[in-house]
Formats: sequence, C-alpha cells, structure tokens
Amino acid sequence: MINRYTIIGQPVAQSVSPAIHHLFGELTHRRVEYTRTEATDTTFEQTVKEWQASGGKGCNVTAPFKELAVSVCDRLNDSARLAQAVNTIEMHRDGKLVGHNTDGIGLLADIEKNKHINLADKRILLLGAGGAARGVIAPLLSATPSVLHIANRTTAKAQTLAKTFSKLGATSSSDFQSLENLDSFDVVINATSMGFDNSAPPVPLNTVNQSTFAYDMMYKSGQTPFLAWCESAGVSDYADGFGMLVEQAADAFLIWEGVRPKTRKVYLATDEIIHSASPKN
Ligand code: ATR
Repeated sequence: MINRYTIIGQPVAQSVSPAIHHLFGELTHRRVEYTRTEATDTTFEQTVKEWQASGGKGCNVTAPFKELAVSVCDRLNDSARLAQAVNTIEMHRDGKLVGHNTDGIGLLADIEKNKHINLADKRILLLGAGGAARGVIAPLLSATPSVLHIANRTTAKAQTLAKTFSKLGATSSSDFQSLENLDSFDVVINATSMGFDNSAPPVPLNTVNQSTFAYDMMYKSGQTPFLAWCESAGVSDYADGFGMLVEQAADAFLIWEGVRPKTRKVYLATDEIIHSASPKN
C-alpha cells in the first residue's frame, strides 16, 4: 500500500517537498507518494478534507495557510499550539486532524546538528515577528540561550511575542534602529519576509561581529539579500534555510511514518534542485 501525502499552499508549483519526501521513502523503504496541491483562503479547509476523504494520510501546509490550518485541525500538539501555526497535519483513521509544527525543530536541528552551532548561553537576535518568527521561538528558547532578542519593524508585535514566550526563557524586544544601543549578537536569524522583495532588514552594523553566526530562514538560488548584507558586514559563518527545509520535512515524515530519515544524503541530493529553482517549501 502506498501512503499518500501532499503539500497545500499558494503557490506550490516550485515546491521541492515532493522530491525530498520521495527520497525519504527510498531511504527508509516506505512506499510514499507526495504531490502538490494548490488552494485559496476560501478553498483551503475543503481541500484538506477532500485530501483526507480520498485516503490521504497527511499533508504539509505552506504559505500562506499555516495560521489558517490551526482552525481546521481538531487537535494541536504543543509545537503547533505555541506557534499558533501548523505545517504538518496527521490524518487519523477516526477522521480527526492533528496539527503539528516542525519548522522550529527543523531550524534547531539545522543550526545545532548540521552547522555545529551550540546555542546554549548565546545571545540570539531574531529579526521579524510574523508567523515564521513565532514558529521558531519556543524551540530556540529550549536551547537555553542567554537571551533571545526579537526585533521587528512593528515594535508592538515584537513586544507581544517577547512577553508571550518569556515563561520559556529570557526574551527582550525592540525595533531595528534601537539595536544600535545593544551589544552585538552571537547568532542572528532572519525570519522576516523581506528577502522575497530582494531586500534585507535595516539593522545597524554593530548588530554583528566577525564571529557572529547568521542564518536566513529563506533560501533562493544564489545568496539571499540578508546573507549578502551579513557578509559585507564581516560575517563569514552563515547559512540559508535550505537545511531547515530538509530537517522540518524529516520531522513531518517521522510523524506520519514513524521513522526519521537520515537527512544528510537528501540534503546533498536536493541542494542543486533547491539552489537552482528558488522554491520556498
Ligand atoms: P511570515 O509568515 O513569512 O512570517 P508575516 O506573518 O506576514 O509572514 O510576517 C512578515 C514579517 O516580515 C514581519 O515581521 C514583518 O514586519 P511587520 O510585523 O512590521 O509587518 C516583516 N516585514 C515584511 N516586510 C517588511 C519590510 N518591508 N520592512 C520591514 N519588515 C518587513
């Protein structure tokens, strides 16, 4: 029997998730079929239910439906509840939909395991306070940084997130300009959507130093605008979100198939597809 999965988003034509999941299937000797499904705000819920009714075992959810998916699920696990966003839905035989969010643990796995950056006691700066930022805050705090500072154009949103998550670890917040008054950070993560407009968050130079590790949660063919800025500011250790994509997919596969594939081979095999096609998920 083939277990069927799909990614639902708008657009999804460029998604490399099918290639990643098919490779996971080969590596783990599971028969999986993974397709792409387009939806709109008004058809999203129906699309999920139709997929389930047709025998689908699960789906991934990508932009712009991760927050909408929260209300479509019957239950949320802790990761999705804290993030208030769902990127993976498990479809149970009893008809129940269970929402998960593997983005944050995917980011953590890529930074700590693949890039060998230990986040314990580090000063982390998270740029952005939208859905993508929200989804990674709890996992980042679980790595026990000395502080997680959230900076955003709309300061009130950064303040709200810092307050909401303060019970999980040390958080603070500001706008971009006020970073001028703070020491540089050990790790800087871009979770804004600015790269899609080919621009980078306007952060002051003192935000980074030569030993800062920079991470851009977006990826594209060639360098992202944020990582180009980091390099020009003297940062030499950096990565884009390609590794996070593969890791979050492996955690979704684990939820559905009960086995977490080794990601290294898939990372290498899909590198070329990803960096030549500039997909988002
Ligand atoms: P996503 O799901 O990708 O996080 P989102 O929830 O719309 O999308 O959040 C986008 C993030 O990028 C927000 O932090 C947003 O800042 P605001 O909260 O001030 O809107 C940030 N962002 C997008 N365009 C921006 C721009 N031109 N300048 C600064 N920040 C921007």
